[in-house]
Amino acid sequence: MKFQVEKVIIGSDHGGFALKQAVIAHLKENDIQVEDVGTYSTASCDYPEYAHKVCQKVQDGTYPLGILICGTGIGMSMAANKHKGIRAAACENTFSARMTRMHNDANVLCLGERVIGPGLACDMVDLFLSTDFQGGRHQARVDMVNSLDNQ
Ligand code: RB5
Repeated sequence: MKFQVEKVIIGSDHGGFALKQAVIAHLKENDIQVEDVGTYSTASCDYPEYAHKVCQKVQDGTYPLGILICGTGIGMSMAANKHKGIRAAACENTFSARMTRMHNDANVLCLGERVIGPGLACDMVDLFLSTDFQGGRHQARVDMVNSLDNQ
């Protein structure tokens, strides 16, 4: 697997904590530098807080790509997509994880611990971090998506 990035930022709420730990271990095995913004236990917490921590550092360019995990991946994607310049994709399969990089230039992958297992999640992370945006006809559409930030 040839990763496009050397480092990634990751966050979860309590519903995604166990899967976050599995994904972090997998990334470290593959020599990807990981910043973990929490949560750091299964104690109940609020997913928008962690979405914000990750998205801020993708917005400012510290990290090109981020990963967010909650119970479903949906709450995280909703919170993340409130951030200007963030294109977050809640994915449940490898095809979507790959295509959202190729066609949507997604910069945050959202996963659901209560939806998928760690093996599939790590395969999806691998594809997300190793797939390039295709540009071309997709660039104008991504530009249109970005322009909706101001609506
Ligand atoms: C927490 O119980 C759960 O609501 C949260 O992890 C997430 O699935 C929300 O979208």
